[in-house]
Amino acid sequence: MKEIPGHPERTLIRVPIILQKGKNMSDKDRLAWIYSSRDSEELAERYDEWSETYDQELEGDYGWQIPRLMAERLSGTVPTTARILDAGAGTGLVGQYLASMGYGNLTAIDISPEMLGKAKEKGVYEEFHLMDLARTLGFTDDTFDAVVCAGVLTFSHAPARSLYEMVRVTRPGGYILFSLRTDAWETMGLEDITQELESHGKWKLVDRKGHQSFTEKERDVIHDIWVYELL
Ligand SMILES: C[S@@+](CC[C@H](N)C(=O)[O-])C[C@H]1O[C@@H](n2cnc3c(N)ncnc32)[C@H](O)[C@@H]1O
Repeated sequence: MKEIPGHPERTLIRVPIILQKGKNMSDKDRLAWIYSSRDSEELAERYDEWSETYDQELEGDYGWQIPRLMAERLSGTVPTTARILDAGAGTGLVGQYLASMGYGNLTAIDISPEMLGKAKEKGVYEEFHLMDLARTLGFTDDTFDAVVCAGVLTFSHAPARSLYEMVRVTRPGGYILFSLRTDAWETMGLEDITQELESHGKWKLVDRKGHQSFTEKERDVIHDIWVYELL
């Protein structure tokens, strides 16, 4: 280890070049780098770095299917006039599909300013907010007709308790759709929270269906799309 000039009390730890930058990573490094974020600040910084190449890597190289599938599922559930919250919108892939189906009242929230910047470029959202799903959201109760959350409830991302806030900001009769890797379901504490919300009469399960998440790489990964109706 090397001393930092002018700071003999601190030392430089040699970090492999590939982990210092989000660019030019191999697939395995990329996912490991994202999942190894220590907190939401670090996760946001890493998504900021990834934002430039995210669409090409995830949708192009991997064949990420979930944003399209969730938009299709939502289109069979709420009318095109619905006010929809895209929770963890990232670069706006879900919004892009929804807009192509005629939806126009879309709000994007995310913890990464650069990902939100990319979503803005798509020109399909009405509102953008930097918000953390792990905290109280800056919306009044019953604001939205639907919440869609694609690829965000997962390891080291938004925690299971984020569902409480999604429920609070969705009106009775509205819908919450979220995708979840089948392996994350078992380890993230979602079972307790979804059942608690059900037993307290907050929502009822409409549908849960498994889908192949990627068509080009990691083709064995399955995401369930969960659909809940608010009561
Ligand atoms: C895998 S990307 C999914 C983006 C988009 N929904 C899609 O399907 O392409 C995960 C996104 O969730 C955001 N995110 C992670 N944790 C979050 C949190 N606690 N609150 C809000 N956004 C979060 C990340 O910044 C990132 O943009």
